[in-house]
Amino acid sequence: MKTLIDLIAENVKDAFVSAGYDEKYAKVTLSNRPDLCEYQCNGAMAAAKEYKKAPIMIAGEVLEHIKEKEMFSSIEAVMPGFINFSISSSYLAGYINEMNEDVLLGCNKVDNPKTIVIDYGGANVAKPLHVGHLRSAVIGESIKRMFKYLGHKVVGDVHLGDWGLQMGLIITELQERKPDLVYFDENYDNEYPSEAPFTISELEEIYPCASAKSKQDEAFKEKAHMATLRLQQGYAPYRAIWKHILNVSVEDLKKNYGNLNVSFDLWKGESDADEYIPEMIEVLKEKNLLHESEGAMVVDVVEESDTKEVPPCIIQKSDGAALYATSDLATLVQREKDYDPDMVVYVVDKRQEMHFTQVFRVAKKAGIVKDDTQLVFNGFGTMNGKDGKPFKTREGGVMRLENLMKEINDAVFEKMMDNRSISEEEARKTAEIVGLAALKYGDLSNQAAKDYVFDIERFSSFEGNTGPYILYTIVRIKSILNKYLEENQIEDTMILAPEGDSEKELMLLLARYNDVIENAIQDLAPHKICAYIYELSNAFNKFYHETKILTCEDEKRKRSYINLISLAKKGLEECIDLLGFSAPDRM
Ligand code: ARG
Repeated sequence: MKTLIDLIAENVKDAFVSAGYDEKYAKVTLSNRPDLCEYQCNGAMAAAKEYKKAPIMIAGEVLEHIKEKEMFSSIEAVMPGFINFSISSSYLAGYINEMNEDVLLGCNKVDNPKTIVIDYGGANVAKPLHVGHLRSAVIGESIKRMFKYLGHKVVGDVHLGDWGLQMGLIITELQERKPDLVYFDENYDNEYPSEAPFTISELEEIYPCASAKSKQDEAFKEKAHMATLRLQQGYAPYRAIWKHILNVSVEDLKKNYGNLNVSFDLWKGESDADEYIPEMIEVLKEKNLLHESEGAMVVDVVEESDTKEVPPCIIQKSDGAALYATSDLATLVQREKDYDPDMVVYVVDKRQEMHFTQVFRVAKKAGIVKDDTQLVFNGFGTMNGKDGKPFKTREGGVMRLENLMKEINDAVFEKMMDNRSISEEEARKTAEIVGLAALKYGDLSNQAAKDYVFDIERFSSFEGNTGPYILYTIVRIKSILNKYLEENQIEDTMILAPEGDSEKELMLLLARYNDVIENAIQDLAPHKICAYIYELSNAFNKFYHETKILTCEDEKRKRSYINLISLAKKGLEECIDLLGFSAPDRM
C-alpha cells in the first residue's frame, strides 16, 4: 500500500506541475501545527526564490490545481505561503479499512529481498553477560526482526569472543588449581572426558581471578599467552578444555539471551574465522596491500576525504599473532562463502567505530566483499547510571545482566502489588513480561548512537514514555475486546468514517503505520517505532477517555469502534514484536 503521505504528495506534485512549477517543491510533511491542519507543504516558499513570485501566490495557484479534492476536508493557502491539508473523514476511513485487510497493515514486502547478516550479541565466552552486551543484543534483535518483517533474508550471528587471551588465562589458572587433570598430563593419550572440569559458576570465578593475576604476575601472563598460542595452533588438550569452556558458556548464554527474548540463527565466533585467515592474508598479498610497519604487517586505509586520522589496519603482529581486525576480515571471507550477503550490519559499541572503518576499507580494497556489498556499522552509545558514568552496581562493580533483569522485574512486581489485587504468583509471572518491556523500551526508545541513563524507577513506571505504559494500553484494549466478545460476535471489520476528533486522531496515527515502519527499517532506527507507539498509545487513551465504547447505543458505530481499537491493538502488538517484547493479558 502506498503511504498516506505519498498519496498526498502525488496530488501536490501534479498540482505544482500543472501550475507550472517544478515538482521538486512539492514536498509534503506532517503538520507541525496540528491545531491548524494535519499535513503541510512548504514548497511555495522555496519556489518563490526561483520564480520570483510571492509564495502565497504560488501556494494559491497550486491549490487551484489539486485534483483529488475528495481526499481532503480542507486545503488552504496560508501566509506567508504554507499549504495546509486536512484529510477527509471518509477518505481516511477508506484508507484505514484497506490497511485493516492487509496482513502487514499496509507495509510493503520488498520486491528484491536482500540477504543480510546481522552481527550482534558479541558476548565473550567465559565472562558473564554484563550490561555492556545488553544494548547490542536488544538493538540487534530488533533490527533483525524489522528486516525479516519486510521479507529480507536475515541471518543473525552472535559472533562470540571465543578465541582470545581469556582462553589462555582460564587454561593457565585451571592448571594452577587442578594440575592433576588429564589435560595437563603430557603423556596422556586417551580420549578426553566428555564432562567439563568446571561449572559455569566456577568458570565465572576463574576468569576474573586469572585476569587479575595476569595484571600483577608477568610470568603468569606469559604462560597465558603461550597457552593461547598453543590453543590456536591446535594443541589437542587445550582444544579439549576450550571446547568445555565453549559448551558450558554457550549453554548459559542461551539461557540468558533467551530470558531477553533474543535469539540467533548462528552461534559462530571468532574461532570459526580462524581457518580463513591464511586465505585472507593471501588475498591481501596478491593485491599488494600488505606491507611491514614497525615489525607488524599492515594495510594502509587512508582516504583523501578523511577529516581525522585513520591509522593503518594491523593484520599480523610481529610474533605472527592474529588481531581483532584479522579475525573480522576472515569472518567476512567466511560470510561471503556461506551467505554471499548484500549487507552486513554490525551492532557494536560505537567506541569500536575506528576498528570497523579500517576493517571495511580493507575488505573493499582487497575485494573480500563485493563493491556493492553494504557494510554497515550501527554503533551504540553507553548505558550510564544516574551519575552519568557507565552503569555499575551499587558496589561499583560490573552489573551482571541477570541481576539487572531481576532488579527491574522486582521494581515492576512491587508496582503491580501496590496497585491491584492479583495473586502474587500471577504478578511474578507478569512482572517478567512487563520488566522485559521496561528494559528494552528504556533502551530502544533512545537513538542508538546516543548514551542514555538507565533509570529503573523511570523505565518501570506505568505512566509516561515507557514500556509498561505501552503494555498497559494494549492490556486495556484487550480487556474491552474481551468484554465485548462476552456478549457479541465480531461480524465484520468495517470501520466507519470518524465522527469525533479523538477518533479521527487515532485513525490518522494508525494510517501512519506503514510510513513509520518502513522509515524505521530504512534508518535502522527502532527508536522511531518507540516514538510512534507512544503517540499511538496516547491517541488511543484519549479516544478511550472521551468515548463510550461498550455503551454506545448505535450498534453499527459500536462495532466500528471495536474494529478500530482491534486495529490499534494489532498495530501496537506488531510494533512491540518488532522491538522484541510482548504484552500480557492482564496487568
Ligand atoms: N566480543 C566483542 C566485544 O565484546 C564484540 C564483537 C563485535 N563483533 C565483531 N564482529 N567484532 O567487544
